[in-house]
Amino acid sequence: MTATGPTNGPYCEVVSDDQHAFETRVIHGGQQADPRTGAVVPPIYAVSTYKQDGVGGLRDGYEYSRSANPTRDALQANLAGIESGARGLAFASGLAAEDTLLRTVCKPADHVVIPNDAYGGTYRLFARVLERWGLDFTPVAQQDLSAVRDAIRDTTRIIWCETPTNPLLNIVDIAALAGIARDAGAHLVVDNTFASPALQRPLELGADVVVHSTTKYLGGHSDVVGGAIVTSDVELGEQLAYHQNAMGAVCGPFDAWLVLRGIKTLSVRMDRHCDNAERVAAMLRQHDAVVDVRYPDLDEVARKQMSRFGGMVSFRVKGGEAKAVDVCGRTRIFTLAESLGGVESLIEHPGRMTHASAAGSPLEVPSDLVRLSVGIENAEDLVADLLAALG
Ligand SMILES: Cc1ncc(COP(=O)(O)O)c(C=O)c1O
Repeated sequence: MTATGPTNGPYCEVVSDDQHAFETRVIHGGQQADPRTGAVVPPIYAVSTYKQDGVGGLRDGYEYSRSANPTRDALQANLAGIESGARGLAFASGLAAEDTLLRTVCKPADHVVIPNDAYGGTYRLFARVLERWGLDFTPVAQQDLSAVRDAIRDTTRIIWCETPTNPLLNIVDIAALAGIARDAGAHLVVDNTFASPALQRPLELGADVVVHSTTKYLGGHSDVVGGAIVTSDVELGEQLAYHQNAMGAVCGPFDAWLVLRGIKTLSVRMDRHCDNAERVAAMLRQHDAVVDVRYPDLDEVARKQMSRFGGMVSFRVKGGEAKAVDVCGRTRIFTLAESLGGVESLIEHPGRMTHASAAGSPLEVPSDLVRLSVGIENAEDLVADLLAALG
């Protein structure tokens, strides 16, 4: 199985971990000046096909943009560099990346261990789509490592984890799960969407594959939907690239360019997201109307594997679902909307919005839960907005 497309074209160089610090890699990975014009960022190659110099005479390996496109190549090289991987691949959405990964690694009758509080859309992919295709899965509270070990079967191909989880901000131990996966002959996949590689790099901790909704912190401006897979395993990277082309859920050149532009400011944005989320979490922890603040700064495992704790904060309110829905409707700066990871602050009710598809399943979320994506506005303005909404 050979991947199509170039691996050594002008936008394919992966700037590796030991060459440059993270803050340099986000800006320069896959970003060498355009060889013809010197353009300092990769142009948007809005093109589907490429002139051949005689039959089979491809220039730098480009023949058709589902197989390879220079703007997407630049993003893919950048993604591999910032996650300390060998191969990055960019997709039309996070779920498209997940689907491609699962159907590359697994076949019908195989089994996957998933978190018992995965993102609702990930759960729906397993429960409503891939189960029909014949893929078996077991939701497990993965903080309990012996429960993970007990769930492993002969047919287990993947341990899938998210850390921090969406929306409960639970933490799992990546290095420990990597050990369990290795013993079982399975791959450890980490959905690193909530932390971003600015705060946590799972491949450095022993994971085999990282997935992202690049819609979130990597894009960072709520203006694009995209997904990514990064792996440290060269052979698996080849198989994934083959399936990316064969299944076709690729990231288009305009979207690739937007995600690449977003990534340049990832380090500075994450610093401010963390500053603001820490302020918001501290306020909520003192507030009478709030019962349970979910922010992973006090978690021992998080302190071991994350450099800081991100921009997502969830909390439960006294007064149940009605109060939670009321708070979501009363903020002025926090916009009531799904999604997360953009520069603007968002608020939502997971039970009725992002996680409605998990209703009635083992992954149902508490009805009095409110989720915040804390943006990079002024921290005092954000705190005042929430205080007014909580009443
Ligand atoms: C943790 C997580 N993983 C995956 C996804 C799916 O990504 P997308 O919406 O880009 O398909 C999301 C979307 O919210 C998410 O929050």
